Amino acid sequence: MTDNAKKYYITTFGCQMNEKDSEVLAGILRKMGYVAASKIEEADLILFNTCCVREKAENKVFSYIGELRDLKSQNPDLIIGVCGCMVQQKGMAKKIRKSLPHVDLLFGTHNTHELPDLIENILASRTPQISVWDTEGAIREDLPAERENPYKALVNIMYGCNNFCTYCIVPYVRGRERSRNPEHIVKEIEELVNDGVVEIMLLGQNVNSYGKDFQDRTFDFADLLREIDKIQGLKRIRYMTSHPRDFTDKLIKTIAQSDKVSKHFHLPVQAGSNRILEKMNRGYTREQYLNLITKIREHNQDATITTDIIVGFPGETEEDFKETLDLMAEVRYDSAFTFIYSTRTGTPAAKFKEQVPMAEKKARLQRLMDLQNDISKEINESYLNKVVEVLVEGTSKTNSDMLTGKTDGNKTVIFPGSDLLIGKIVSVKITEPQTWILKGELEEK
Ligand code: 5AD
Ligand code: SF4
Repeated sequence: MTDNAKKYYITTFGCQMNEKDSEVLAGILRKMGYVAASKIEEADLILFNTCCVREKAENKVFSYIGELRDLKSQNPDLIIGVCGCMVQQKGMAKKIRKSLPHVDLLFGTHNTHELPDLIENILASRTPQISVWDTEGAIREDLPAERENPYKALVNIMYGCNNFCTYCIVPYVRGRERSRNPEHIVKEIEELVNDGVVEIMLLGQNVNSYGKDFQDRTFDFADLLREIDKIQGLKRIRYMTSHPRDFTDKLIKTIAQSDKVSKHFHLPVQAGSNRILEKMNRGYTREQYLNLITKIREHNQDATITTDIIVGFPGETEEDFKETLDLMAEVRYDSAFTFIYSTRTGTPAAKFKEQVPMAEKKARLQRLMDLQNDISKEINESYLNKVVEVLVEGTSKTNSDMLTGKTDGNKTVIFPGSDLLIGKIVSVKITEPQTWILKGELEEK
């Protein structure tokens, strides 16, 4: 590393898919000779990897970039780039250039690999570069990634989504489903394990659709898990996100039989009323969903179950919403991500009549969160005096004498201990369960 090496600073919004894309962006920049800047003010290249799943995320990007006007006028050589899902929306690149003229670089989710050429062009011509692809292009297996965490890694298994839930922008900005070959995935994970990784998170917008696009073989997500399960030295396998409609009996059994696949089931339900589920185009009924949860619990007694729920979808009545509350109480989720419906231009639901007023949406969100908090607290209290296996992730941000880690079921555990334990799996006795976290003590062996 040289002192005069150019520096990059990446800000990431949104989901793990974007986090992984940012790791790839960082990998590409490293290969070009860039090093990471510790502060945004020191960077020669600033990249915003954006999310457009809700309006709030988009607004944040506009205001963050707006704040960089002074930095750019002090340093005209600074390159400010915007990429990711937001840029992939129709007309958005132009809109960003118009309202934020200090942005020099815009590219979408399908052409990350073009980054070196785009930067070269800016440096050579001093003109802004915009390149957004309409179509997906082939999967790139040749891109480097700069991992954030030495022990945990994000691994893409597929890209895109074919589901077209009526509220969701993702299929429009991430394209159609494309699965990576299992050989490539297994090889990548073996290399990661050789490099010290003990936990992997398999990524896809709908991992249960994995392999449906293969022309030359029959190989599904359960088959993939079985292959990955065999990798020596790997301790934990997680995945994100699965669609309740595609969660097969074969998959439930495969997970139950596996030592390494986490017993955390994140199953976004979105709504509890059949009328709304149909308008959302989710492809399952409340009864089918509840049946799936029962089956999962039958096969995996220690399952933790979490979900995503949207309140205030167009036409959602008080009765519909009560069905969501009822479902939450019936399933008893360990935790839930709850969202206010956000209108996304270009999606079918944006044109639906009967939009729910914001005050009502906020009130429903609060009622839902209150119920979930009570349930989370009760479930966590049942962990008192239990011993759990924790993968130690690091020291606590607020107290460096405390370690933080995750259980197999994805619960956060905080306990006193030496940082030599980071990256190891240890036994912790829970002494103080709380709504969001479990506090405990190392169990002497
Ligand atoms: N408004 C609110 N929430 C949304 N999600 C997706 N699209 C929207 C939207 N338009 C939520 C869903 C999904 C999670 C990642 O984001 O609950 O599961
Ligand atoms: Fe969006 Fe539905 Fe695809 Fe999930 S499954 S990314 S909610 S369209």
